[in-house]
Amino acid sequence: MDQPSTTTARMLPGKPGADAIFEQITADVARLRAGGVTPSLATVLVGDDDASAGYIRIKQRTARSLGFASPHVHLPGDATQDDLHRVIGTLNADPAVHALLIQHPVPSPLDYDAALAEVDPDKDVDGMHPLNLGRLALGRPAPRPCTPAGIEALLAHYDIPIAGREVVVLGRGATLGRPLATLLAQKRPTANAAVTVVHTGVPDWSRYTRRADVLIAAAGVPGIVRPQHVKPGAVVIGGGVRYSGRRLLPDVDERCADVASAITPRVGGVGPTTVAMLFRNAVQAAERSSS
Ligand SMILES: NC(=O)c1ccc[n+]([C@@H]2O[C@H](COP(=O)([O-])OP(=O)(O)OC[C@H]3O[C@@H](n4cnc5c(N)ncnc54)[C@H](OP(=O)(O)O)[C@@H]3O)[C@@H](O)[C@H]2O)c1
Repeated sequence: MDQPSTTTARMLPGKPGADAIFEQITADVARLRAGGVTPSLATVLVGDDDASAGYIRIKQRTARSLGFASPHVHLPGDATQDDLHRVIGTLNADPAVHALLIQHPVPSPLDYDAALAEVDPDKDVDGMHPLNLGRLALGRPAPRPCTPAGIEALLAHYDIPIAGREVVVLGRGATLGRPLATLLAQKRPTANAAVTVVHTGVPDWSRYTRRADVLIAAAGVPGIVRPQHVKPGAVVIGGGVRYSGRRLLPDVDERCADVASAITPRVGGVGPTTVAMLFRNAVQAAERSSS
């Protein structure tokens, strides 16, 4: 029978690192406002999905508490792709809007990726516009994808060095694993890692994860990372999650805490730093447009 976790690892909640990032954003917003610029993050919601509406409300509340303007456009569920692109075009052209978020997912048959491609890359708050992913690959400045950048920030916050160390990312998805691997291999003090990416094409992937100093789960397969996949003393970061209704099902089996030296908690790990990175992208967009 499976034994419950006895949890020996140090927990790595995301909130302290996120708070430090929000402190910097608050100072940046105050400086911009003192110079006559109110940073603005516009949100677009299509349809009436309760969960999506809730996520938007939380982002708007956070935006306002940080001193951002937060204009919002709500399109009906039967809006067409053209309707959505028209709204994006209007927000792109509005100099008072610095950053733009299209709530994902959009109702079928709308195409989220096609809509994202319409967003002005300089206003792309998620850092997922194809041009920005290209800039990431080239190591050029651009808004960075929020969860990957949040994971780098979380590791840096806890002074967990990855430079020169073996980092294994489980998953090569476009949202998380792939941009994360690119980011952590870059030549920067908080990156510079020897990164290996494993996926379904590597059936014996635990051969790689078992030698990782830092193992990052980015698969979206509940419980896929188990204690036997972790090198004793490694750091384990849970990025992948799936939802069953409102219940969050993480990639990392909680018993990995018995083997790891440090691990993100089941809830409140990379989420808070992801949100902080979204607002950092937004304030940086305002800084770029006003410089
Ligand atoms: N916490 C957050 O704020 C946040 C933000 C963004 C994303 N996420 C989560 O991150 C996860 C990944 O997102 P994504 O969009 O990048 O996902 P994705 O496109 O679905 O990619 C999943 C990756 O995991 C690999 N994988 C799946 N099952 C596997 C298995 N049994 N063995 C080995 N590899 C396996 C897949 O391999 P193949 O490529 O071979 O199919 C694929 O590369 C999702 O759970 C998502 O919810 C979380």
